[in-house]
Amino acid sequence: MRDNYTFTILGAGVMGTAVANAVLKGHPEPFPGEIRACTHDETSMELAKTKLSHEIVSYCYGPENNAKAVKGADVILLACKPDMYEKIHDEVKDSLTGDQLVISLLAGVTIEELMIFSKNIAKVMTNTPARFGCGTAGIAFSPEAEKNHEEFVLKLIDTVGMAFKIPEKQMDIATSLIGSGPAFCMLMMEALIDGGVRMGMPFETARKSAAKVMEGTAKMVLETGEHPAVLRSLVCTPGGTTIGGLLKMEDGNVRAGIARGVEEAAIISKSFSKKK
Ligand SMILES: NC(=O)c1ccc[n+]([C@@H]2O[C@H](COP(=O)([O-])OP(=O)(O)OC[C@H]3O[C@@H](n4cnc5c(N)ncnc54)[C@H](OP(=O)(O)O)[C@@H]3O)[C@@H](O)[C@H]2O)c1
Repeated sequence: MRDNYTFTILGAGVMGTAVANAVLKGHPEPFPGEIRACTHDETSMELAKTKLSHEIVSYCYGPENNAKAVKGADVILLACKPDMYEKIHDEVKDSLTGDQLVISLLAGVTIEELMIFSKNIAKVMTNTPARFGCGTAGIAFSPEAEKNHEEFVLKLIDTVGMAFKIPEKQMDIATSLIGSGPAFCMLMMEALIDGGVRMGMPFETARKSAAKVMEGTAKMVLETGEHPAVLRSLVCTPGGTTIGGLLKMEDGNVRAGIARGVEEAAIISKSFSKKK
C-alpha cells in the first residue's frame, strides 16, 4: 500500500468510527493521507463527526457522495449493516476499479459475496471493545488479498487491539467468541458483582473489582501464554476458598453453560448465512 493512501468508510457508525479512531491513534505505517467517512443521512453524518474527528477526515452522506468517496479510494472499509451491502454496491459500482482493497466488518456476508466489490477482500470479525483499543479481530482473506495485502491489513486492524488471521470457515465461531464474546463476559461479570453484593459489598466497589479482576486475569493468560487451567491451579490452595468456590460453580454447570453458549451462537451465525 502506498503512503498517504485514501481510506473510505462506507457506514461510519459505531464500528466504522471505532476502527478509524484506532488507526488514527495507532498510526500504523503506511498511514492514510485522507479518510472519507460516509453515512446514510445528515443526522448520522453529524453523529459521525462527534465520534471521529481529525484533520484528515472528511464527511459526507447519500448515494452520490458514496460513489464520489469510492472513486480513487485505495482502501474501502465496509461498515454498514450486513443487509445493506448490495444496495451500497449498487450506489458505488461505477466508482469501483475491481482491485481496491475492501475490508469488511459485516457479520455473515461471505468473501465470495463481497467479491462483487473487488478481488481483494479482507473479512474482519471484531467487537465493541475496539472502541477502547482493546478489541479482538479475526481476519480471513480472499486469495488475491492474501497475496497482496495480508501484512498491511493485519497491521492496520491490529490497532483495534489484537488482530490475527483465521480461515474463513472459522468465521461463525469468531462471530460467537469474538463478536458476541463481550456480552458473554458481561454476564460472567454481572454474576461476580452479584456475588459480591450478596455478601454485602457496595455495588460500585463490586463493579470495579469484578471488571479489574477480569482484565487482570485476561492479561495473565495473554502474557504467560499458559493454559487457564494451569494458572487456576496455582491459586487453589488445598482446603482453601478458591477451590471451594470453583466446585460450587461447577455444581451449577457453569463451564458447560458457557461453552454451549459459544456453540449455540456459532450455530445461529451459520444458520443466518444458509438462509440467504
Ligand atoms: N456493533 C458490534 O458489536 C459489531 C461487532 C462485530 C461486527 N459488527 C458489524 O459491524 C457492522 C456495523 O455495525 P455497527 O454496530 O457499527 O452499525 P451502525 O452503528 O448502525 O453503523 C452503520 C452505519 O452505516 C450507515 N449506513 C447505512 N446505509 C448506508 C449507506 N447506504 N451508505 C453509507 N452509509 C450507510 C448508517 O447510517 P444510518 O445510521 O443513517 O443508517 C450507520 O452510520 C455490521 O455489519 C456488523 O455486522 C458489529
